[in-house]
Amino acid sequence: MSEQVYYERSLGAEVYPHLKMALDVVDASLPKVSVDVGCGAGRDALFLAERGFTVYAYDKSDAAIACLSKMGGSYLNETLFPQVCSFEKFEYPESSLISACSSLFFCNPELFSLAWMNITRSLLSGGVFCGHFMGLNDSWAKMERGDLTIHTRAELEELFECDFNIIDIYEHDSEGVTLLGRKKHWHTYSVVAQKIS
Ligand SMILES: C[S@@+](CC[C@H](N)C(=O)[O-])C[C@H]1O[C@@H](n2cnc3c(N)ncnc32)[C@H](O)[C@@H]1O
Repeated sequence: MSEQVYYERSLGAEVYPHLKMALDVVDASLPKVSVDVGCGAGRDALFLAERGFTVYAYDKSDAAIACLSKMGGSYLNETLFPQVCSFEKFEYPESSLISACSSLFFCNPELFSLAWMNITRSLLSGGVFCGHFMGLNDSWAKMERGDLTIHTRAELEELFECDFNIIDIYEHDSEGVTLLGRKKHWHTYSVVAQKIS
């Protein structure tokens, strides 16, 4: 099954609960500017645009950005700005919400620190990060592919130690399937954290 099928299916999936939680937590006095990191076909970007956010959405995949551009309707180039780019090269605007649903763990481990620094610097105080990280028990982590960024819980908490108040961490450690129906063991942490510095 193709990348295209994956992106079509992702549009039908529910927006993940931590993104909804992030909307309740974000300081409402901040500009409604958000970034969708590794946006795929843009389910979350569209959700945020519909809630009045200006959304800068990027993905390394041309197919993903073509899909989001097609779905963007009247938001496209008004409040929704899709772009082909990578985690470490994207120029993050000052924002109040950064969403990284099932994406950041695809960052090359050698580039993760740079990408994370850029993400945290661009988030305004009172703004919220929500997104997923991959844990050691994930079947992809166990393959030792070398192209994924894997975190222990302690390493993950360290990422947020200085500048954030962690609102919630949800750990998912069980058998499951991918959107393309392939069985795998998922071990992910979903985090919502508010920038406090
Ligand atoms: C599992 S999908 C999630 C897509 C979307 N966030 C969602 O929840 O539907 C992961 C996405 O990360 C993107 N990605 C992987 N490596 C990337 C990189 N280095 N820079 C930007 N995007 C990347 C992939 O192209 C893919 O669209």
